[in-house]
Amino acid sequence: MKNLSIVFALSTVFASAVLWAEPVTCLSPDGRAVVTFDLTAVGEPTYSFAFRGETVIAPSRLGFDIKALGADAFDGRKAADLRRDFVLTDVKRATADETWKPVWGEEKEIRDHHNELLVALVQKTTGRRMNVRFRVFDEGLGFRYEFPSEEDKGVARLVPGQQIVPQGQTQPLTHFTIVEERTRFNLPCDPLAWWIPADYETQEYRYTNSKVTEIPSLFKGAPDANLSSTLTPVPCVQTALMLKYPSGLLVNLHEAACVDYATMHLKVDGHDFESYLTPDATGAKGWLQTPCRSPWRTVICGAKGADILSSRLTLNLNEPCALADTSWIHPVKYVGVWWTMITGAKNWAYKPDPTMHAANTTNVIRHLDFAAEHGFDEVLVEGWNIGFEDWFGKEKDAVFDFVTPYPDFDLEGLNAYAKKKGVKLMMYHETSASTRNYERCLDAAYGLMKRLGYDSVKAGYVGNILPHGDHHYSQWSNNHYLYCIKEAAKRQIMVNQHEAVRPTGLCRTWPNLIGNESARGTEYESFGGNNPDHTTILPFTRLIGGPMDYTPGIFEADLSKVCSWKKQFISTTLCGQLALYVTMYSPLQMAADLPENYEKRLDAFQFIKDVPCDWDETRYLEAEIGDYLTIVRKAKGKDEWYMGSKCDENGHKAKITCDFLTSGKTYTATIYADAPEARYGGPTADRYVITKREVTRETVLDLVAQPGGGWAVSFK
Ligand code: NOJ
Ligand code: CA
Repeated sequence: MKNLSIVFALSTVFASAVLWAEPVTCLSPDGRAVVTFDLTAVGEPTYSFAFRGETVIAPSRLGFDIKALGADAFDGRKAADLRRDFVLTDVKRATADETWKPVWGEEKEIRDHHNELLVALVQKTTGRRMNVRFRVFDEGLGFRYEFPSEEDKGVARLVPGQQIVPQGQTQPLTHFTIVEERTRFNLPCDPLAWWIPADYETQEYRYTNSKVTEIPSLFKGAPDANLSSTLTPVPCVQTALMLKYPSGLLVNLHEAACVDYATMHLKVDGHDFESYLTPDATGAKGWLQTPCRSPWRTVICGAKGADILSSRLTLNLNEPCALADTSWIHPVKYVGVWWTMITGAKNWAYKPDPTMHAANTTNVIRHLDFAAEHGFDEVLVEGWNIGFEDWFGKEKDAVFDFVTPYPDFDLEGLNAYAKKKGVKLMMYHETSASTRNYERCLDAAYGLMKRLGYDSVKAGYVGNILPHGDHHYSQWSNNHYLYCIKEAAKRQIMVNQHEAVRPTGLCRTWPNLIGNESARGTEYESFGGNNPDHTTILPFTRLIGGPMDYTPGIFEADLSKVCSWKKQFISTTLCGQLALYVTMYSPLQMAADLPENYEKRLDAFQFIKDVPCDWDETRYLEAEIGDYLTIVRKAKGKDEWYMGSKCDENGHKAKITCDFLTSGKTYTATIYADAPEARYGGPTADRYVITKREVTRETVLDLVAQPGGGWAVSFK
């Protein structure tokens, strides 16, 4: 009887295994994007993707190299592959069309409309199961790997091992490490890429624009200011990566919902790519236990730059909001004592020279008064707590306790004063990249914030990760960042992480993550400069995963006026700085310059005071990566619009039809434009002209941005 049932089972297997004739396709809701799944002759899973009749991803292999752990490892940690010998055992399809409301965002509602294909695979030689879930949107593709638990037989129709593998030879998959994810992105051509080199510690690079095949010869470190940098041993690039195909098609590669997993880089192989995960201190690229899944690998396509910028595919692939009550989460406009330190005029540390210490009570009161007078929500104070005097570059473990102020910082008194003024102090935690020390201190650190009334924290991860040998974007570090976000949410604290992993849309699930740096920000205007086209690239790359705390608003372009020995001008004009409040979307916006630099130019400062950082609607009027972009947004709950345009070193002219305005209504447009002589990087960078005029939706505005400049317009 027993033998008979095995024979019966085997025959069902093979019947079932051929039941699903490959290839299997899945179309987008509009039918114009299509993913195709197939198995090669040796059972290698592959996918390809086409958008509006054009091949975006040519047939590309999927899979992993792994090592099984524990009882699953027959010969200790035996290397194995999940790359070939697969059979397709089930196909499931689904469709979703739903509209959800973000807690904050570029628009008040987001539509998630996609078709889904799940392919269930069993490896013939081991009985191991690996599923691939594809979601096809009109503008692109997301796919992820899913490893069912050994108990869960729900997905695959076949009982693994029992049918496919001779009895006693199945190798279950429960605990395993990833040696490498082997997802290929085979391209049909050699596109232009806007890329930064892959580095396990930093994302603070300038962009290079070259053909993909040229990347290996141009691949080099190290960023100007960040002490910690570990380039990948072979040429790889970071995502989000922006590509332009010879046909003009724009293609963006990134990942969504990177949870309990290492960050992916893309290894360059001719004009193709293969996934290359960030290792941990042991060299492993992931420690998994079934059931588990990878982040989504994403492909966003568009004929125009605006198509890429308007895609919400990354957010849509993240889980819905995990918080029942989000009433305490709010957009934040803030000022701080930050720029004096970044320029070198003042220090974070109280020692050895207390007269150089920026976070002193008098200076903070000055900023609290300024914030209250001009309507800012919060004042960021870095360098208020002991530790900075014996930290930078020293790789000490327990440097900061996050509760002990320097003697000239009246922690209690300043919070009481802020409360009286109707503003809040913003907490700063320099973790010194010791994730271990920070986790140990977290309860006390957040506890102090709650006791004193802080509701947001900027957390920094400067330096090499401690424990030694781990990296900024490993699975372990990524779990740390999310742990802090979740612990903060429990206490109703909003989080802005600097030097942490680049975002992958997790702010949908955890909207208390209101900011990330994770790219080269305004601080580099003082550390060697940013390229004038930098902020025309970031919206297509870093911002695909979520908002950036770019900290714009530098009005005094001549840094020697802030710090006498710094003989340097910033790389934009003043109006270029204003434009960034619209073009660099973030619910968290800083006015980064010194109060006195705003007080000298209160007419231009008015735009920063007026511009909101939460929106009902967004329109991308023009967007050429690396050249210019113009965005207009409608303020949340108000009939007011704000337009920003930022350009590269060549300047930009545009005719903008105001047809976004409500018909039949007249608005007052206040136009903040570069003066004709304004130029980035020199003494005329801060020249601007402000004009006011009445406009309707029929009005056409002729606007000019000078080299490195931009414009900003409010419509009220
Ligand atoms: C780097 C951050 O990007 C910057 O904003 C912060 O002021 C410093 N770290 C402080 O350590
Ligand atoms: Ca930084």
